[in-house]
Amino acid sequence: MCGIIGITLRKGDAVPMLIKGLQRLEYRGYDSVGIAVHSRRGIMVRKGAGALERVRVRLSFDELSGRCGVGHTRWATHGAPTDVNAHPHTDCTGRIAVVHNGVVRNYASLRARVEASGHRIVSETDTEIIAHLIEEHLARTGSMVEALAMTLSEVEGSYALAILKSDEGDRIYFARMKSPLILGLGETGNAVASDIPALLDVARRVIVVEDGEFGWISPGEVRVYKLLPGGRFAEVPASEVEKRVKVIEWSPEAASKGGYPHFMIKEIYEQPQALRDTYNGVAEDAGVRIAARAIAEARRVFVTGAGTSYHAGLVFTYYLSKIAGVAALPIIASEAKLYKDSVSDGDVVVAISQSGETYDTLELVREYRARGARIVGVTNVLGSALDRESDFTVYTRAGPEIGVAATKTYLSQIMALTVLAVRVAEEAGRVTGAEASEAIGRLEAAPQMASTTIQVGDAIAKELSRSLDSGSVYILGRGLGALLAREAALKVKEIAYLHAEAYPAGESKHGPIALVEDGFPVFIIATSDSPEVAGNAIEMAARGGIVRVFKPSDMHIEIPRGRASVYDMPPSGGDLLLEPYTLIPPFQLLAYHIAIRKGYDPDKPRNLAKTVTVE
Ligand code: M6R
Repeated sequence: MCGIIGITLRKGDAVPMLIKGLQRLEYRGYDSVGIAVHSRRGIMVRKGAGALERVRVRLSFDELSGRCGVGHTRWATHGAPTDVNAHPHTDCTGRIAVVHNGVVRNYASLRARVEASGHRIVSETDTEIIAHLIEEHLARTGSMVEALAMTLSEVEGSYALAILKSDEGDRIYFARMKSPLILGLGETGNAVASDIPALLDVARRVIVVEDGEFGWISPGEVRVYKLLPGGRFAEVPASEVEKRVKVIEWSPEAASKGGYPHFMIKEIYEQPQALRDTYNGVAEDAGVRIAARAIAEARRVFVTGAGTSYHAGLVFTYYLSKIAGVAALPIIASEAKLYKDSVSDGDVVVAISQSGETYDTLELVREYRARGARIVGVTNVLGSALDRESDFTVYTRAGPEIGVAATKTYLSQIMALTVLAVRVAEEAGRVTGAEASEAIGRLEAAPQMASTTIQVGDAIAKELSRSLDSGSVYILGRGLGALLAREAALKVKEIAYLHAEAYPAGESKHGPIALVEDGFPVFIIATSDSPEVAGNAIEMAARGGIVRVFKPSDMHIEIPRGRASVYDMPPSGGDLLLEPYTLIPPFQLLAYHIAIRKGYDPDKPRNLAKTVTVE
């Protein structure tokens, strides 16, 4: 986790841009923050424990200035979140400053080694060891490129690094292994960062750094080297580097709050646009058809992801069975071991990850791929590791999502996966081309449905948030409703810190109903495949539960008066494929409003980071 950034400009001050970039990277971790800039007096470092806005004021970040600098926002792994452990870390001489995202696995032995050779280690971090290793190799070789290559050849684990060297005032060295790193090439200068939104103020032309690559940027130059065994290296020719440049269409505004108090609420409100863009991207996409063919021809299909992406995968699995008659096995990415021994040639894994960088998902992909499976990646980030390691990629086009809670990316994933499921049905001969086009055409209504739902749902959620601030809630459904409930409960847990449990309503009498007593809150998500949830609502009400049912307004269910409050959301015409858009936003909004009422920051829930790049 952690976010890193480095900016080197021809002229002007890089510090405000570094701060802006760090604001956009905070979703990757926010327990400490720091920046280092080249100044006339050498490298100036300011860093401390706490989130950016506080530390920025406490340590007067804005007093710093310089054309070239690096920054870091941290999610602690090695060492507690303290001032000393915050990045950047320096060597004994203060001539090298390093920011790092990743985990050095052989940290203990490297630390013992550098300590034994006389280096003074002041922090508990793995990153500081990298600064001392560079110092040591630099003293021997005199060349930073050689010293970096020697250092990297000793380090095991994952890293994205940005490094300043005091006597090279406009250069930022970088390196990547298993942690994301992007170079940005702009008119006014160049940049390096953990992700694209962080460097949008400097550049729109980007290059994804590959694992095992390192190099440096200056305002007008980029050099990339490939690390070879034994600390040797070879330069990647400039023509090859140039071929890898991609132009990014995301605007800097898309990565800012744009007048909303939080990214989360902005991103909830952006869902109609995200759905429109995703729909336009996938509806007629030839790549989606090719991926669908691979799934239709597969011996077996596995569907994986973590957190919200896994929940989107569950909906996909259901649609795949219903529309295409294909049975797929959903696997939580961190539980890859459960099925890996059964994987072989002819299998396909559909791997879903908005960031495309989630460690667990990538590990499953690598492991199953090595056993013969082909990979269909579904991601929101062009050039992400998942994108590059998949045989076929389906892109969602939700735009940058900064809030830790996945909102617009979830519904966009469902949109892309629904089109994929319909195309699988077509490839499998289950529906005709005309029927597939008709089903996909109906999805065009989704953005408008989401928009109306958000308007209606916001007021309802705000009102409901008054009565929900502690204890537990059940969120239940059957069929599609049970799958949507999983995502609704995750939002309430992670953002509102309220214990929310989702399970298929039919399971109540097998145990969970024992908890229901007077005043116990129960939400039911009623979908058109499961009118029988009415019976579950009545059972819960009979035991004193306060039951609230969310359903499409045109779905008829029989609940006797006074047993439950029924909230009518926009109609779905009985089309199951459209119901996520009418039933999910109210729960995203509920989580948001409870958090606001309780004084929590919905963009930065405690203990979490948006992209989980550690095991
Ligand atoms: O980037 P990914 O989609 O792979 O991320 C997966 C999960 O870490 C993510 O969905 C997480 O559960 C979010 N906090 C959900 O809001």
